[in-house]
Amino acid sequence: MQTIQAMVNPRLLSKANRLFTGTLEGRIIEVLQNARRAGATKVEITNHDGHVTVRDNGEGIDDFSRLLDLGGSGWEETLESSEDPAGVGLFCLAPREVTIRSKGQIATIGGDGWTGAPVEIQNDPEPALGTLLRFQDEEWTSAAVDRNAVFSGMDVTVDGKPCPKMPFISDQASSHPELGCRIEVRESQDLNPWHNSCKRGSYHSDNVLVNFHGQVVAFDCHPVSEHHLHFLVDMTGEPTGIRMMLPARTRLVEDEAFEELKSALELGAFRYLERRGHHRLPYKEYLRAKELGINLPEAKPTFSVGLLSGGDPPDPVEVVMPKDFPLAKCYRFDPNFKDGEENDEANVHLLAALGKFDKPFIPVAIHGRYDGYSWAKLPTIGKVNVSVGKELYSGWLWAGTLTCVDLITITAHASDGRVSSSKVCMAKAPQPPDKAPNWADDHVLVTAEAQERLCASEIWYHLGGWSDEGDTYDTQEWGFQQELDHFWMQLIGPDEQLRQSILDALQRIEQKWKFVKVFPNGKVRIRFNDGSVKNIPPAKSHH
Ligand SMILES: Nc1ncnc2c1ncn2[C@@H]1O[C@H](COP(=O)(O)OP(=O)(O)OP(=O)(O)O)[C@@H](O)[C@H]1O
Ligand SMILES: [Mg+2]
Repeated sequence: MQTIQAMVNPRLLSKANRLFTGTLEGRIIEVLQNARRAGATKVEITNHDGHVTVRDNGEGIDDFSRLLDLGGSGWEETLESSEDPAGVGLFCLAPREVTIRSKGQIATIGGDGWTGAPVEIQNDPEPALGTLLRFQDEEWTSAAVDRNAVFSGMDVTVDGKPCPKMPFISDQASSHPELGCRIEVRESQDLNPWHNSCKRGSYHSDNVLVNFHGQVVAFDCHPVSEHHLHFLVDMTGEPTGIRMMLPARTRLVEDEAFEELKSALELGAFRYLERRGHHRLPYKEYLRAKELGINLPEAKPTFSVGLLSGGDPPDPVEVVMPKDFPLAKCYRFDPNFKDGEENDEANVHLLAALGKFDKPFIPVAIHGRYDGYSWAKLPTIGKVNVSVGKELYSGWLWAGTLTCVDLITITAHASDGRVSSSKVCMAKAPQPPDKAPNWADDHVLVTAEAQERLCASEIWYHLGGWSDEGDTYDTQEWGFQQELDHFWMQLIGPDEQLRQSILDALQRIEQKWKFVKVFPNGKVRIRFNDGSVKNIPPAKSHH
């Protein structure tokens, strides 16, 4: 029988200098990582003459052949199961010339030394403790080193200046020995700036930070709907199945352990919310917590007053909830009411905003994801009636029709038997089923009172509002205002309009006057209160 067998072809070695993308940060991470793995507590980085020297106080190197063993490592057994060393890290320095000194030996790797040629090892005339690396590189600045050193647990200095050092998590964290980590849940405002510096660019909402002994991998994962929650995962050094993708180790491998980690994050989130004592989770997630054995309190009541959303301007007329008014006395709208029609929701909102009531009538909007919580179960509004008086004037306006009538009454019937009814100065026109095609898409009814009671944008809201395909917001709003002014003018009639514009012009006479006479030839005569008279002939033309 013929068999095949996996093997490493030496050709890979000839490409070893291309295993890494060659970033400065990548080199800093690998070198600090080796020092830490060697048990170092101190690392001194110095920049000099275009060279970087890194000296650690770790246990040093007995067997220099490990350095160039691609895929092989010389670390202790326990490290193997916790950190999964790959035996490739040092190759991030290829093809540079690197001098390594440790335990009385010294070697300089360079050129084809990285790809297979023998490298000589000599005796070090000045043996020092730990390990020293020296190689050519751009400056390793504090700015570049700090964020890779801050959570490493070692004292790192750059040209004598100490890097910041702090614990990645606090003692609030919970232990997960099966995953070899501890997990802490934090609100975004409780992260420190170094945590935030570990996040990837602005395209991500990274809320999980996994600290592999100084190297932090960020990703987003939102096991619960409170998206501002952050998860700090600190690897302890216990054996773990959590693996990073090689060779750069900038993301996690999505394997079984990763799934377990995600479950641990979910559980951690629920436990955190249980301790915090309040949340705004959808009912489904509240049930999920229960399934996991965590009894959360009900979500905080989450609702908006009125039924029409603000969102983008213009805003609808506001429904105001009296201070301390109980949610339990409010109403929800039933979108599935059998005889309901499209404009009912808007009209219930307008009834609440513009109507007059003995006891407040407050409809509220609650998102369906909260259905199931006791506070979300409110009486609902089903049947809605709009009764309309005599039509006074109607005209096209903006994206619809505006009709002025002498009376509008809206009546809303609620499931608890309450009937709320009031005169209002604006409503969406009800759509008679058979006449539907004759009515414009947006048909708004107003009474003359609306001219005083409402601002133009509150009417505009129901007539199409702002369109992002046209002019700027201000220009469009001004345009609507013009059309609306014209509408009200038409309503009061052409004579009244003329009278008002003449009066407007006479405002410019400064002295108090008794009467003004205008002659067809353009002459104007003004008699003032003091008895004097002023004749103003038309100005002589220059032509
Ligand atoms: N600062 C150091 N102190 C002691 N030994 C070191 C140091 N740096 C490297 N070594 C030795 O050289 C070997 C090769 O290092 P290299 O970084 O290439 O691989 P690794 O750390 O084993 O794996 P990884 O690919 O995860 O970095 C290490 O296994 C270790 O035996
Ligand atoms: Mg290494």
